[in-house]
Amino acid sequence: MNSISITEQAWWQEGIIYQIYVLTYADGNGDGTGDLRGIIERLDYLNDGNPDSETSLGIDAIWLSPINSSPMVDNGYDVADYTNIGEVFGSLSDFDELVAKAHHRGIKIILDLVINHTSDQHPWFKESSSSKDNPKADWYLWQDAYEGREFPNNWQSYFGGTGWTYSPEREQFYFHTFNTSQPDINWHNPDAKAAIHDIIRFWLDRGVDGFRMDASSVYVQDPYFRDNPMKYEASNKNDYNNYHHLYDKDLPENHQVIKEIRALTDEYDDRLIIGETFIDSRLYDSVTYYGTQNDELHLPITFEFPFSPWSPGYLQREIEKKEKLTPEGAWPTYFLDNHDIPRHLSRWIDCSLCVDSDAIAKAAATLMLTIRGTPILYYGQELGMVDNINIPADKLQDRAVIISETGDTPPPRDGARTPMQWDDSPHAGFSFGQDASPWLPVNDNYKQLNVVNALQKTDSILNFYRQLIRVRKQSTALRRGKWRSLIHYPYEHLAYLRETATETVLIVINFAYEQPFALDVPINKENWTVLLSTVYETGKVIDLADNLTAFEVSLFQKIR
Ligand code: NOJ
Repeated sequence: MNSISITEQAWWQEGIIYQIYVLTYADGNGDGTGDLRGIIERLDYLNDGNPDSETSLGIDAIWLSPINSSPMVDNGYDVADYTNIGEVFGSLSDFDELVAKAHHRGIKIILDLVINHTSDQHPWFKESSSSKDNPKADWYLWQDAYEGREFPNNWQSYFGGTGWTYSPEREQFYFHTFNTSQPDINWHNPDAKAAIHDIIRFWLDRGVDGFRMDASSVYVQDPYFRDNPMKYEASNKNDYNNYHHLYDKDLPENHQVIKEIRALTDEYDDRLIIGETFIDSRLYDSVTYYGTQNDELHLPITFEFPFSPWSPGYLQREIEKKEKLTPEGAWPTYFLDNHDIPRHLSRWIDCSLCVDSDAIAKAAATLMLTIRGTPILYYGQELGMVDNINIPADKLQDRAVIISETGDTPPPRDGARTPMQWDDSPHAGFSFGQDASPWLPVNDNYKQLNVVNALQKTDSILNFYRQLIRVRKQSTALRRGKWRSLIHYPYEHLAYLRETATETVLIVINFAYEQPFALDVPINKENWTVLLSTVYETGKVIDLADNLTAFEVSLFQKIR
């Protein structure tokens, strides 16, 4: 087995991952929809290979939201051809060019791998639904509704209502964790599994550096199709959240499926598998996906950290939980934003300590880039982009959610998916097609909030991210060091250390106005070098002050 020993630092432990929602990042052909050519043209912004660059962000890997051929009911999370690129995104030769040019700049490429389900337009599903005895009849989860029941069992769709849809052609129901157009694959079927392994090899052979595995904790369902027990006192039977997901999620076989994918990727050199341990999973479920021998996911992601309130006590509790629950030899990961949830500056806008959104953005950036683990940034986060909450109904694109007819459907996720704000030209520089309508409307604030402006403004959020990323790259303690808090229960500020044998970095984040710099664990306050601060000049050597300035963020270093 050619797996990276986790005691050495792999690229995905040291590096910073940046998620690109391809449909709205950069439109290279002017048709209003983001594509691979657009990303190729913007690679220098992400990382131009020059550590002292004045304009580049300096990230190490990009995770592309799905780019395969798809009818786009769930905007690519419904794949109709796994080994091709969707026409709107470009071609396989564009993809090869992207990989080559990204690698040339030291940027790794991570693909979204959507293998819990296919689109109902995928040839596998078309064949499977055509009869009960075709060669792919068992590749999906087909059932009759027994004993006069309306549906085969009570499993729900995460997008609302029953998880079962009737196929008149096959005269049976198929199960879908998500939209009715996203039938779940039957992972118990060896031929289906082998076909998916071939797809994984196809992309690994093409040079991708890893996968973000979509919905990776709901691959396997109970072969006996038993009903899920309802939660105590829950009444709405059409609500996914009202069930204990004993039989449609986190099954032991799910671990086996992932273990096999890990073994496959380990046949290649240092490739990465990130898994979305599903949105409502708890950390203690999620960490089991590291595997008992670190032989499953490299990085399981879970939503407890982003869903924490913007409050130092809660955030520290989430970090402490992760520090305690991450198994020996495994590595944590954190994110704040992605394409499924509102952006953090929109989520946290109403909290009591949130006075200045620039201050929150810089504090959030500091947290993400200085706690122990791999940070996953979401495009536009580095600018301080917020959700577009004024998208007219006829412009919404999140059809997978909108067209679910029954039950409590989640709200559309379009607000956090609007075009990247590059400059103040029409369409924010996202698309040069003057007549083309951008895939989603650009946020009105783009005239002020855009990359060109932000690069020119010394104290912009973007320049703060850029500096922080450089500081992190130059500090072994920030990338690898142990994490240790200096406050037992923080109310208004966080203070923690990242430590190696030879270097200590002290990180201080003030969530409030001027206040005493109180610590529960005493430290020597003399002679700290300022690495980056909203108050002190970089490079200065200072004694720590008795008070913290309002919303101060500071990183100080000591070398032994
Ligand atoms: C999780 C993805 O992040 C989300 O966007 C998608 O709708 C579902 N999985 C279904 O693929």
